[in-house]
Amino acid sequence: MINQRRPDGSLRHLITLDGLSRAELEDLLARAQHFVCEPGEQPRANQSLAGITIGNLFTEPSTRTRVSFELAGRRLGAEVVNLEVQLSSRAKGETMLDTIYTLQALHFDMFIIRDSQAGVVAHVAEHVQPHVSVLSAGEAHVSHPTQGLLDALTIRQRKGDRFDRLTVAVVGDIRHSRVARSAYEVLWGLGVGELRLVAPEALMPEPGEFAGGRRFTSPEEGLRDVDVVMMLRIQKERMEQAAIPDGDDYFTRFGLTPARLALARPDAIVMHPQPMNRGIEIDSAVADGPQSAIRDQVRNGVAVRMAVLEAIARPRRLRA
Ligand code: CP
Repeated sequence: MINQRRPDGSLRHLITLDGLSRAELEDLLARAQHFVCEPGEQPRANQSLAGITIGNLFTEPSTRTRVSFELAGRRLGAEVVNLEVQLSSRAKGETMLDTIYTLQALHFDMFIIRDSQAGVVAHVAEHVQPHVSVLSAGEAHVSHPTQGLLDALTIRQRKGDRFDRLTVAVVGDIRHSRVARSAYEVLWGLGVGELRLVAPEALMPEPGEFAGGRRFTSPEEGLRDVDVVMMLRIQKERMEQAAIPDGDDYFTRFGLTPARLALARPDAIVMHPQPMNRGIEIDSAVADGPQSAIRDQVRNGVAVRMAVLEAIARPRRLRA
């Protein structure tokens, strides 16, 4: 595993939440909370990233992560460039590293990368110049660290900071989910009371993964009395065609309906990282219902990414 830290111990890259201390996670959440603003409020902004140039390199589709990283960078005073990968020379066969070297020559200081291939983000981090930082915006099925942080922030806002008193159920396609893996890392790091993995056998993670999580193949058992229901999207793009579950059948067996949600605690919250497959993993009555925290998750995305960028960036002195 790549070392994400500088020699002084500070975070230089963010590729995984694995290895962050509880104090570091709590500091990031506290700083993110400072940046949270309600719809209609003037967003907070500062110039802590003035003089820094950020490149967003997404080779997989994204709405929330890309837009919120862009807003986060701009609200901290950075220059942000979104590389349209399909219109870039990557489409002519240029390698990721040659693209990175090109952008470094143009004085980029940070790269925010989403890629479908495991290991690409760490590979880039191993090859960039010493002053350059690399952040994951979602890596294959492996990791989505800022999603993990925004999920933890959402839970903290709704349930308080005593994670040890909470039972969280992660439900659905856990096997292919980077969201689930980062949620596990952050919730375990914050001392969650109980983490349940609720999935059909075919979508359970490999044995040995998610150590300490309790596994349930019945949503009726797995959802009973939980405080948080974290639904996951079926990751069709990471499955063989033949392995993709039939949508109607999946909804019947695992979809979060009002009846299934009623098994959880009455004040349980419902989360989903989005994009959602409505009518496959979640009923619209639940997704848009009073227990849903899904819009809060989106709102928290900018705040968390501001906190992360601020924690990683080294101030630059502007030159005239
Ligand atoms: N949750 C999430 O990563 O959404 P996007 O794919 O739209 O960025």
